[in-house]
Amino acid sequence: MNFPFQTVVNDESETKKVAEDFSLLLKAGDKILLNGELGTGKTFFVKCVCSAYKINAVSSPSFSIVNEYTNHHKIYHFDFYRIKKTVELYDIGFEDYMNDNNAIVFIEWAELIPEVLPEKCYTVFLKYIDENKREILIKKNN
Ligand SMILES: Nc1ncnc2c1ncn2[C@@H]1O[C@H](COP(=O)(O)OP(=O)(O)O)[C@@H](O)[C@H]1O
Ligand SMILES: [Mg+2]
Repeated sequence: MNFPFQTVVNDESETKKVAEDFSLLLKAGDKILLNGELGTGKTFFVKCVCSAYKINAVSSPSFSIVNEYTNHHKIYHFDFYRIKKTVELYDIGFEDYMNDNNAIVFIEWAELIPEVLPEKCYTVFLKYIDENKREILIKKNN
């Protein structure tokens, strides 16, 4: 996979394939930001990456703000959708999560709180085309 990577997927299985290819190049310390409207597949994409790491308990962290999973990799999975103030993130120890270089961090709705985002990261943009079709763009920053 070369970056920027851009494709149109026709169904979930094609999204899964992209996520699996992407999973192969991630390593501990990597941060992945996911942007795209509700229902475009941010959680689905994280699920597919985690499933490639034999982690099957993935669910949307939109209420919990952060979920943690461990198997071959340690994963922190954030969702900023319900965060109203940056301080809410610091209250739950956001910096400690980000400084844990043994973990891979995913952040859904990252664009809502731009001031806390790392410069070095991957950004996944998902766009709805129709019920099963999505455009996927993945950029590598730094
Ligand atoms: N090609 C596709 N890629 C990803 N999700 C898809 C695709 N086609 C249909 N879907 C469906 O779209 C929905 C995406 O939901 P979700 O991952 O929760 O979105 P988000 O986290 O962006 O709000 C799921 O119900 C999934 O089954
Ligand atoms: Mg989601």
